[in-house]
Amino acid sequence: MCGIVGYTGSKEAAPILMEGLETLAYRGYDSAGVAVWDGEKIEMKKEKGQLANLKSILEREPVHGTSGIGHTRWATHGEPSYINSHPHGDTKKQLVLVHNGIIENYLKLKNMLVEKGCVFVSDTDTEVVAQLIGDLYRGDPLTAISDAMRLLEGSFALAILFRDDPYRIYCVCKDSPMVVGYGRDGAHIASDIPAMLAYTRDVTFMGDKQIAVLSPEGIAFYNEFAAPIDKGSTHIDWDLDAAKKGSYEHFMMKEICEEPVAFRKTAEQYVNFRRGCLKADCFPWADSDAEDVKRIRIIGCGTAYHAGLLGKKYFSELARIPVEADIASEFRYADYEFEPGEILFIISQSGETADSIAAMRMAKQAGVRTIAVCNVIGSTIAREADDVLFTYAGPEIAVAATKSYLTQAAVLFLAALRLGEIRGRVAPDRVSAFLTELAEIPARMQKLIDEREAIQFFSSREFSAKHVFFIGRGIDNALSMEAALKLKEVSYIHSEAYAAGELKHGTIALIEEGTLVVGLITQKHLAAKTASNLEEVRVRGAKVLAVTNGEMPDIADHCQKVWTIPETGELLAPFCAIIPMQLFAYYMAVQKGCSVDKPRNLAKSVTVE
Ligand code: F6R
Repeated sequence: MCGIVGYTGSKEAAPILMEGLETLAYRGYDSAGVAVWDGEKIEMKKEKGQLANLKSILEREPVHGTSGIGHTRWATHGEPSYINSHPHGDTKKQLVLVHNGIIENYLKLKNMLVEKGCVFVSDTDTEVVAQLIGDLYRGDPLTAISDAMRLLEGSFALAILFRDDPYRIYCVCKDSPMVVGYGRDGAHIASDIPAMLAYTRDVTFMGDKQIAVLSPEGIAFYNEFAAPIDKGSTHIDWDLDAAKKGSYEHFMMKEICEEPVAFRKTAEQYVNFRRGCLKADCFPWADSDAEDVKRIRIIGCGTAYHAGLLGKKYFSELARIPVEADIASEFRYADYEFEPGEILFIISQSGETADSIAAMRMAKQAGVRTIAVCNVIGSTIAREADDVLFTYAGPEIAVAATKSYLTQAAVLFLAALRLGEIRGRVAPDRVSAFLTELAEIPARMQKLIDEREAIQFFSSREFSAKHVFFIGRGIDNALSMEAALKLKEVSYIHSEAYAAGELKHGTIALIEEGTLVVGLITQKHLAAKTASNLEEVRVRGAKVLAVTNGEMPDIADHCQKVWTIPETGELLAPFCAIIPMQLFAYYMAVQKGCSVDKPRNLAKSVTVE
């Protein structure tokens, strides 16, 4: 969602702010703006649309100064427009600020401020915050911020520049992420780590209701009552190039190509491949408490939820435990009563997804143990969950999740295997067999990536499809859901996943001459059943593509095209089968000329409900 940057130091601020905004562009935005103290006044430039628009304004009318804030806006209150773009200020022109989040009581506050004489120029909830802080300001920014914080309901990350104190940047957060860091040439703020990496790798994650004051000399932290507090920093060892596109045309393709390495790196954290065993101390269960786990619930949003669906299969098959997987935005309002011995798994790449955070907090409040599967160290979910199983995907910049899905599924598989092992549900030789095959998966993935031209060719013929159905059974149904999401989000082609056996209970009515149906058949014991379902759609005119686990000669009669993944055990097959599906979505989107890395209407990190 919105991206915030801020800088105060010895260098020109505008280029640093613009570079930061460009790095954060992947989060999704529809307008952008900067405000810089030019030595006499706060100079503001903003524009609707792409960052290039703002950039050309800055080229024509440069702003000079060494402290400033910047923002990319993803509209929530008020349409994307010049007026609604951030920064926003107060009527008395004492401050400007940028905001990420949603102020839930903004109408009540706005009415109160209008009565006091504030004149509003935008439709945003953000302007209410600027006016509120302006109204409370009596010469001490910290006190005004702290007083305003008590009146604001909702979520916010704010970076504020005061006219009376222009070389300091004040920032404050509640339920919305922000990192700060001090580099060689000054202090920086950003909504996300990649925008910091060029300046420092030692970053501090802002906690709820904490205030940071950045100055050219350093950063000071305060609690919600404006009393000083100490905060440590976290070292981020992500490779700077990992957040750059390099020679790839799109981040999505780069990130698909990184999957074999991301998978291997993640697996190596939990598996001692040399000894052929799981690293017992990397999992949150001791032999003594494994039997106390009575039920597992997995939540996530979008792709993370789909990884959770694979997790559900893994825990029930390997640990023989009742498992449910839920969409976080539904689960948080489900009025669910946890059972004794129940564990909540929260799956999230960013660790900042608002609904997943809310569901996690609900469970924690009920005294339920929470375990996160998360990619970002220091993120809200990683900080607040009782235990974290990290994925080692590195930064994921494309909006469409690819390597994060794969690594989340890998971690869930290994956690289930470990639980099954200590509960005695998976025999030691089966554990070793799984680990032996797991070590071979990156090479199989690489083969699929190396042979991607066939998928590109197929896509070049099919990209005008209006509807695509993905069908499969069991694990393949879970996989189909992710394949369908990937295709629709990047190529805007309507696509649906359907349990193969369920089609004829209604949905088959949609099949007509030429409808593309993709059958996922990685589960050999279900292959004949899915083949019958493919035949049902084929005879009704569908064009059928099957993805099979190794050669399956019997399938060819039921489809026009077959893609084969290297033969892989059924539970591990999704790690290979997802790759052609991601590549298919990518090439369809490229053929259609879509904005692959930043699909319309989408944001990378969904920090509001
Ligand atoms: C789809 C996609 C989203 C995310 C979802 C959860 O490609 O990226 O569906 O998976 O917004 O995000 P995280 O994993 O950051 O909680």
